[in-house]
Amino acid sequence: MTDRYCVFGNPVAHSKSPAIHTAFAAQTGEEIEYTAIEAPLEDFAGAWRHFVAEGGRGANVTVPFKEEAFRLCDTLSERARRAGAANTLILGGNGASDDAKVYGDTTDGVGLVRDLRRHGVTLAGARVLVLGAGGAVRGVLEPLLAEGPASLLVANRTAEKAARLAADFRDLGEITGGGFDAVAGPFDLVINGTSASLSGDLPPLPDDLFTAGATAYDMMYGAEPTVFLRWAVERGARPCDGLGMLVEQAAESFFQWRSKRPDTAPVLAALRHSLG
Ligand code: ATR
Repeated sequence: MTDRYCVFGNPVAHSKSPAIHTAFAAQTGEEIEYTAIEAPLEDFAGAWRHFVAEGGRGANVTVPFKEEAFRLCDTLSERARRAGAANTLILGGNGASDDAKVYGDTTDGVGLVRDLRRHGVTLAGARVLVLGAGGAVRGVLEPLLAEGPASLLVANRTAEKAARLAADFRDLGEITGGGFDAVAGPFDLVINGTSASLSGDLPPLPDDLFTAGATAYDMMYGAEPTVFLRWAVERGARPCDGLGMLVEQAAESFFQWRSKRPDTAPVLAALRHSLG
């Protein structure tokens, strides 16, 4: 039987993951089937069990199920444990002796770090600002800190959330947290991990936020640059959106399942083209 994989979400019809993984499979010669499944809001675990009963070997998990996915795992990667969320489920994975055991990982952060590398951004020694303190940001802090930035400031509308988040990761590096009023640049890299872009909002930020040659990264993407990226370009920063992160996190999930690392460049180019 063909190994089955899927992305669980609600809603999920918009997901680009089936196109990405189908392209990875064709490229690497892996015979897999990958679909999008809308799990009911009140029964993610049931949807996963049903999928496994029908031949499912692993899954990606997107909004709003990443925390529930985390809770159903038997074992977790260190980065998933830190994130408190899983975006990748592997049945009997990662050397688990029991084939029915579920291993959970989160590949968002490594996806972000790889995409930054692709853009030529050096994290080691950099002054980094991360905007937002929700699940999206929690999921990327461990891999960001592992690269050894000189400093990492988490700034959020609700200051206490950023301070708590920073405290949770303080053992991993030079990280602090606070409100937007605590932001004093300049920074070599500013990553927008708030959902403000969705509503076209911009966090209140000082004009002198960027060093010369700084990069502005928005975890969101779309056919048009986000409000944050437009604002950043006007202040001299180089803009990058989150489409590359999406493809890189998918590639890492694919590697976890199939032990093959796809070439992300052509898949990203095709996606970019399809965004218009
Ligand atoms: P996600 O999983 O996408 O991170 P989340 O956990 O709901 O979603 O977090 C959303 C983040 O975007 C939070 O940091 C939120 O700030 P608060 O903690 O103060 O709520 C931030 N956010 C959402 N809308 C925003 C806006 N209009 N301006 C600034 N920050 C915003």
